[in-house]
Amino acid sequence: MCGIFGFVAANPLPAELVVDALRTLEYRGYDSWGIAYAFQRDRTTTLVVDKRAGRIPAASPAYGSTTIALGHTRWATHGGVTDENAHPHVDCTGTLAIVHNGIIENYRVLREMLERKGHRFRSGTDSEVFAHLLEEILTTSRSIEPNGFELESGHLLVQAVRQAFAHVRGLNAFIVLHLPSQQLVAVKSTSPLVIGIGPRGVFVSSDAVALVGHAQRVHYVSDEEIVLLRQDGPLFFDRCTGTPSLPRWEPLTLRPADTSLGGYPHYLIKEIHEQPRVIERIIRNRLDGARQLADLIRQSYGTFLVGCGTAGYAALCGSYLFSRIARRHVNAVIASEFKYQEHFLTDRSLVIALTQSGETVDVIEAVQAAKRRGARVAALVNVTGSTVDRLADFTVPLSAGPEQSVLSTKAYTAKLAVLLLAAHILNGSEHVGVDVLWRAVDGMEQALAPQTLDRIRAVADRLVDAEHCYVIGRGLSYPTALEAALKIKEVTYIHAEGFAGGELKHGVIALIEEGSPCIVVSPLDETRADILSGAMEVRSRGAWVVGISPEPDDAFHVHIPIADVGDASPLVAIVPAQLLAYELAIRRGLDPDKPRNLAKSVTVK
Ligand code: F6R
Repeated sequence: MCGIFGFVAANPLPAELVVDALRTLEYRGYDSWGIAYAFQRDRTTTLVVDKRAGRIPAASPAYGSTTIALGHTRWATHGGVTDENAHPHVDCTGTLAIVHNGIIENYRVLREMLERKGHRFRSGTDSEVFAHLLEEILTTSRSIEPNGFELESGHLLVQAVRQAFAHVRGLNAFIVLHLPSQQLVAVKSTSPLVIGIGPRGVFVSSDAVALVGHAQRVHYVSDEEIVLLRQDGPLFFDRCTGTPSLPRWEPLTLRPADTSLGGYPHYLIKEIHEQPRVIERIIRNRLDGARQLADLIRQSYGTFLVGCGTAGYAALCGSYLFSRIARRHVNAVIASEFKYQEHFLTDRSLVIALTQSGETVDVIEAVQAAKRRGARVAALVNVTGSTVDRLADFTVPLSAGPEQSVLSTKAYTAKLAVLLLAAHILNGSEHVGVDVLWRAVDGMEQALAPQTLDRIRAVADRLVDAEHCYVIGRGLSYPTALEAALKIKEVTYIHAEGFAGGELKHGVIALIEEGSPCIVVSPLDETRADILSGAMEVRSRGAWVVGISPEPDDAFHVHIPIADVGDASPLVAIVPAQLLAYELAIRRGLDPDKPRNLAKSVTVK
C-alpha cells in the first residue's frame, strides 16, 4: 500500500517523470498524491512540494527539470484524506522531505517528544514524525560534527536515517530527500523497495513496474540494508553496523508492453483476457515447479495453503483439488488467521504461501511464523523478487505478468493451475492434469467469446441497480462462489455474498425475496443434482437465477454456458463472473481498476 518513487540524476530530468511513475503505482493507493523536488534559480536551490488529495490528474502540472525528486501515492491509514496529509512531508526547515509506506506504530509518543522540542507539525499523519525526527537527529549531530563534508559524503545522513529508523516501530519503508546534500536515502523493514540504475540516473520505487523505461538493472532492498542515492550512483550500507555492503543486481525483465493497456480500456478487462495465455505459459514452463511442489507435499507431515482475499479462495480451492485428485488432506487457512493456528506447525510441516504481490503483510507474517517453527515454506508468487519470493525456501513463479488492476484475476487462475498440476502429479496422473488444463485454456477462450459476453451483458443490464446478489456453489465450486461474490462486491459495491449451496436452508435462504439475483455455479460434477435443487428452492421463493454451467436447466432464468473441463472447472467458471463484475462496474460508472477504499499490495495491517 502506498506507492513511492524517487530519483537522483547527473543531468536534470523533468520532475513530471515522478508523476508519470506515480500513475503506474497508483494501484497501491489513490487517496492522494504528491511530489517534492529541488528547484534551482539564480544559484539558490529550494525544495518545491506539490501535494493534493484525490486522484492524479490526467495532465501533469508543469514543474520544470531537476536532478533530485521523490513522490508518493497514498492509501490513508492515519489522518484523513486531505492536502496536508498527502505526502511528501517536510521538516521545520523545509530542506528535508520524506515519503513513507507503512505505519509508525509509536508515532504518538515520538510526536509528543518532538513537539516538546519545538517541532511544528502540519499534518495529522504518523509519517510526518519521521521528517522531524530526522531533523532533530541531524541538528544534534551537526552540533557535534559541524563540517559539511561528512554530510556531503552522505555518511552522516545515512547514520542519521539509521538512527531515526531505529526509533520507529512497525513495518515501514521511507525515502528521504536531503536538499543540502542533494541525496536520497532509502530504508525499509518488510515494506518493499527496489533500486534501479539506468543511463539517466538512479531510481528507487516501491515496485519494479515503475522502473520500466528508467532502469536496466535492479536491486531489491533487504531489511538489513540502507541505501544512499547520489548522482554518481547508489551506495549500500548495513543498516545495523553502518558498514558498506554489496548489492545484488539483476536485469529488469519487465517491458513497457507488460505495463501498458495494450488497446484495452481498463487493466481489469485486459487482465481477464490474458488468462488463457497465462495458463498456457504455466503448462509449458511450470511443470518442473509443480513437480517439486508435489515432492515437498509428499515429504511433508501437514501441509497448509495460506493466502488472503482472492489468494485465500485459491487456497481453499486447492484443498478441494488435493482432496479429490490426490486423496491428500491439505489445509487452507486465511493468512491473517494463520498465526492463531500456528501451534500445529513442526519442522515436518509445509506452508505454501499463495500471493500475487508477495508483499501482503499477513502472508509475510504467516511465512515468518512457519520459519520460526522450522517448517518448510513454498510459495506461488507472481512478483519476482518480492518479500515472500525471497523468504520462501522454494517458489513457483506464476509469471502472469504485472497485475495492475486492483482486482486480482489472472494471478488467481494461475495459482489454481499450478495447484491442479501439483495435485495430479502427486496422484501420478500428470498427463491428465496437463490435458485438463489445455481444455481449460480452450474453455476460457469460449467464456471470453462474444456469444458468452452478450449473455453476460444482458445479466449486467438486469443487475445494474441491484442492492444484493447471491452466489452459490458446492464442492470445487464453493471457492468459485466466494471469489465470484468478492469480484462483484469489490468493484460494483453491490452487496454480493457467496455461499456453500448446502448452507442455504441453514439460514441464508431467509435473504431471498422476489427478484433477488442468485448466481448458481453448476459444473457437471457430483455437486450438480444438489446445487440444482438449491437453485430450484431459491427460484420458487422468487429469486432470479443465473446459471453458470455447461448445460442449461429449468432452474435457470438465464444460462451462461461454459465448457465442461472436469476438475479444471474453477478456472473456467470464474471467467463469466469476472466479466460480469467488469460489465457492472462500467454500467454503474465506476472505475474498474481502482475501487474505493482498496489498494493493491496490502502492506499494512
Ligand atoms: C481481490 C484482491 C485481494 C488480493 C489479496 C491478496 O481482487 O485482489 O483480495 O487477492 O489482497 O493479495 P496478494 O495475492 O498480493 O497476496
